[in-house]
Amino acid sequence: MSVKKIAVLAGDGIGPEVMQEAVKVLDAVQSKYNVKFEYKHALVGGAAWDDFHSHLPEETLNICRESDAILFGSVGGPVREQDTDKWCGVEVNSLLGLRKEFGLYANLRPAKLYPALAFASPLRSDISSKGFDILVVRELTGGIYFGRPKGRSGAGETETAFDTMIYSRAEIRRIARVAFDTARKRRNKVTSIDKANVLTTMVFWRQVVEEIAGEYPDVEYEPMYVDNAAMQLTKNPQQFDVMLCGNMFGDILSDEAAALTGSLGMLPSASLADGSFGMYEPGGGSAPDIAGKGIANPIAQILSAAMMLRYSFNMAAAAESIENAVEDVLNDDYRTGDIWQHGSKRVGTAEMGDRILKRLES
Ligand code: IPM
Ligand code: MG
Repeated sequence: MSVKKIAVLAGDGIGPEVMQEAVKVLDAVQSKYNVKFEYKHALVGGAAWDDFHSHLPEETLNICRESDAILFGSVGGPVREQDTDKWCGVEVNSLLGLRKEFGLYANLRPAKLYPALAFASPLRSDISSKGFDILVVRELTGGIYFGRPKGRSGAGETETAFDTMIYSRAEIRRIARVAFDTARKRRNKVTSIDKANVLTTMVFWRQVVEEIAGEYPDVEYEPMYVDNAAMQLTKNPQQFDVMLCGNMFGDILSDEAAALTGSLGMLPSASLADGSFGMYEPGGGSAPDIAGKGIANPIAQILSAAMMLRYSFNMAAAAESIENAVEDVLNDDYRTGDIWQHGSKRVGTAEMGDRILKRLES
């Protein structure tokens, strides 16, 4: 029997309660797939602050270093408290810190419109009824987020602030390969997002992606300007399979694609390093307004655990069985408040987890 070590970083907000459901589902996978999961719980974000005065304590990093994967919940405090020490910069400190520390350069963000949830999409019904299934592949450890120099100088009217958008050939090549390899397992199309009509970095991005595209003659390749992509997402999302983006454009377009599915509580994500190490986290935030009420949707966290099985533990069959169980429960019309519609059965966090578990075991 193989043993997998999982660093469980539930974080704050709804993190702990949705994490509980994901762990429940993972527990059920163990016996069926002859694997043992060893969970090591560690604090991150606001949850780490009181004990450590840090959003990402060394103790937590050490637990992650000794693990095969990180299952992450969520971080981010109440809006009115964002300026306090405890909550100031909590997302940047926790997430960017982990991404850089573990070299998690490949961020996979699926945005899939479930037929059962098409009603929740803000798209016009003639567009949403066709459904869509997009995977945003976002570069996560480079670009304008991390480029140097970065800072402020001067004072008064001449005070300036600056960031640096920078990509090396090696950085573009490795994320492009992830996009093309992934497209081969999907519908064989990569749309590469850039701003090559204005930015030098993006002229280079397009050139390097094109070189990689040449290595994948079986995968359709199309470059697209980011402003057009933002528009095309709302007019004709069906045209996209894999969207390959740099760090900042991927941040923006993945939120747009997520919003079009109508349900942030449904979307998982994976952030991968070279090899099999990865961090898995739900797309929605910490939702402090509903934290502790037992009404949050645990599906994004459960599907993030499924992605962990697929990408870090090479357990595609187990991942698929979880994904199918989620779809079954939706088709059975069980809904948390965020995806509820008149006539369907409203359930809380724990019952949603139980329903998925039951489907998984049936
Ligand atoms: C995301 C978030 C983060 C990002 C923030 C919170 C640092 O928006 O994961 O998309 O910009 O990458
Ligand atoms: Mg974002």
